[in-house]
Amino acid sequence: MSDTEAGNGRRSSLHGFWSSKLAFILAVTGSAVGLGNIWKFPYIAGENGGGAFVLIYLLCVFGVGLPIMMSETMLGRRGRRNPVASMALLGEEEGGGSWWAVIGLSGVIAGFLILSFYSVIAGWVLAYVVKSISGVFVAADAASVKTLFGSLAGDWRETAIWHTVFMIITVVVVARGVERGLEQAVTLMVPALVAILLILLGFSAATGEFEMGVRFMFEPDWSKVSGATVLAAMGQAFFTLSVGMGCVMAYGAYLPQETSIPATATAVVCADTLVAILSGLVIFPIVFANGIDPMAGPGLIFEALPLSFGNMPGGVFFGTLFFLLVGFAALTSAISLMEPAVAWWVERFGATRARASTVIGVIIWALGFLSVFSFNLLSDFKFLNGTFMDNFDYVTSNIMLPLGGLLITIFCGWVMSENSVTDELNIGQSTLYRSWRFLTRFVAPVAVVLVFLNAVGWLDWLLAGAATT
Ligand code: PHE
Repeated sequence: MSDTEAGNGRRSSLHGFWSSKLAFILAVTGSAVGLGNIWKFPYIAGENGGGAFVLIYLLCVFGVGLPIMMSETMLGRRGRRNPVASMALLGEEEGGGSWWAVIGLSGVIAGFLILSFYSVIAGWVLAYVVKSISGVFVAADAASVKTLFGSLAGDWRETAIWHTVFMIITVVVVARGVERGLEQAVTLMVPALVAILLILLGFSAATGEFEMGVRFMFEPDWSKVSGATVLAAMGQAFFTLSVGMGCVMAYGAYLPQETSIPATATAVVCADTLVAILSGLVIFPIVFANGIDPMAGPGLIFEALPLSFGNMPGGVFFGTLFFLLVGFAALTSAISLMEPAVAWWVERFGATRARASTVIGVIIWALGFLSVFSFNLLSDFKFLNGTFMDNFDYVTSNIMLPLGGLLITIFCGWVMSENSVTDELNIGQSTLYRSWRFLTRFVAPVAVVLVFLNAVGWLDWLLAGAATT
């Protein structure tokens, strides 16, 4: 399309456009589907008691995450710049002031923090590709798999090497700007991942405690729910969808004007949810059949999955392919985690993409050592929520992303003129539009605020106060 066609008359994006609607869906799906679905969802669900957590998570994904994904895409496309500059510009244009750029800035910082530990976990995934090929999973039992994982995580040198490998791959891809090729690969990766998960599901159903696993995931035990559980579920919804930190906004900046935002966002959210639920359904039957503690934490999938691969026909092949695909899914997410910072640096200081991504990559890599050490040298050094890695994860997922999402909903629902919104969303005054507007103005912001208040215990206090007056 030509630049002048843009509904808001905005010049073209500085970085070009996606070649098609599909390319954008693939890029955002690549960002969304990653370790959040396969590694984090099962372990956070395990730590938070299953069923009730999963239901709250699903409510947050569709009631809060989906409208925010639409909003974020819309802001990116309207701003046509990196998230910091887009929000500064839109803030000015809509009469809210350029300080709205804080949304972009907090996203840049969140991207640094998230990628610093994300890369460490992705490094383990790469290590597991090699382990799988070497056949160490064959005929594995719960004890041997636990030892295997323990010796990887406990060895900071080995963990650091894989973290370094993963960061180098990420930086090379971002620097060369070859993401478009990778995005196409998502058309293969996500279906292949789903296919392997289905094979694993069959194996879990045949050999694991399937019924127990399903019950654990879907039978809500409300007595286990606390303010912290609800916050964790909401944080996981933001994390898994990559919303609240400008990733989707950065990608939205390259979206052609005529593409339907609701359709693309819905497709991404459904694909993401499918992968997460499948992953949980695969993991928990194995967990219960082998006496693994569902609260095992970040090592959960590394302790559970090799048991399946080690005992199923063709396990070496499927195991290797599976960890390769997960590594690939992590890469497409890692790229998106760097995008807000890289786009910002390039536009702000006129640096080349190569230079910007290298410098940013080195900073994130160095920061990553705090997460590398969280499992060995500094594993006993705990503050606030635990180790450095626990804290990076907690602060980003449970605080920064929801806060970013809250500001995004306030901006789209209350600051932006309805004219601009309808112009950009381009779905008229349809029911779809009215539902989005209702979710964005009321449901999502109120939900985020309530979850925050609930987590710090103020909600009970306020309700008690209301009841006595
Ligand atoms: N959504 C990604 C995942 O599930 C992680 C991510 C979070 C990516 C935030 C970008 C922004 O693995």
